[in-house]
Amino acid sequence: MPRSADARRGADPALDARALSDFGRRLRAWYRRSARDLPWRRTRDAYRILVSELMLQQTQVSRVVPKYHEFLRTFPSLGHVARATPERVMEAWSGLGYYARARNLHKLAAHVTSDGRRPRAKLPAEPHELRALPGIGAYTAGAVASFAYGKRAALVDTNVARVLSRVFAPHLSPKRPRDLTVIWRIAEQGLPRTGSATWTHNQALMELGALVCTARVARCGECPVRAVCASAQVPKGARGQA
Ligand code: ADE
Repeated sequence: MPRSADARRGADPALDARALSDFGRRLRAWYRRSARDLPWRRTRDAYRILVSELMLQQTQVSRVVPKYHEFLRTFPSLGHVARATPERVMEAWSGLGYYARARNLHKLAAHVTSDGRRPRAKLPAEPHELRALPGIGAYTAGAVASFAYGKRAALVDTNVARVLSRVFAPHLSPKRPRDLTVIWRIAEQGLPRTGSATWTHNQALMELGALVCTARVARCGECPVRAVCASAQVPKGARGQA
């Protein structure tokens, strides 16, 4: 019996490649119509994107925006962070909480720039290289690789895990490590072919999780992917009209 395209690619056979690409197309079209204009979406500078992603862990967008601008005025590059004391970096972080993020950013800057001796040194572009740096987990590595370097890299944070499990695998719980591994696989299989479409796709996943498919309420009535969602709560007869 001939093997299917999914089996040849090593994809999860339970996942329908057509459903994934249909989902992606609807998601990206919605993003182009509805995305918020956020400052870190206007740059491809890896350092700036890293700062935004670290700030956005545990902190709301509305609190991050002014702090992001202020921090970058004080520390316009990784070299500036490396040459400052850790205390000075933490001071600039004040108000955001979770100071381990600032401490790790200082360690990372010192590491990448060899303690400031190579102030123009750049962050690496590959997720596995980024992951080797202090304070960078799988999500942040994917975000920097995709948003700064246009890599075809997946990213899964709490919001993305919720969206993907609701749409494709409501039986999975993002809190269970084994299930989270499956969700990462879904994220990888759902990536579009090019780096630039991947940029939009990943931003759109974050945006859907923040604005529509939220932890508190799934606003299925206004969801751009409700027609392909396994958990959609829509009035009878409305399915397929999205
Ligand atoms: N949270 C984490 N990354 C984000 C991004 N790029 N846009 C909006 N919210 C985010």
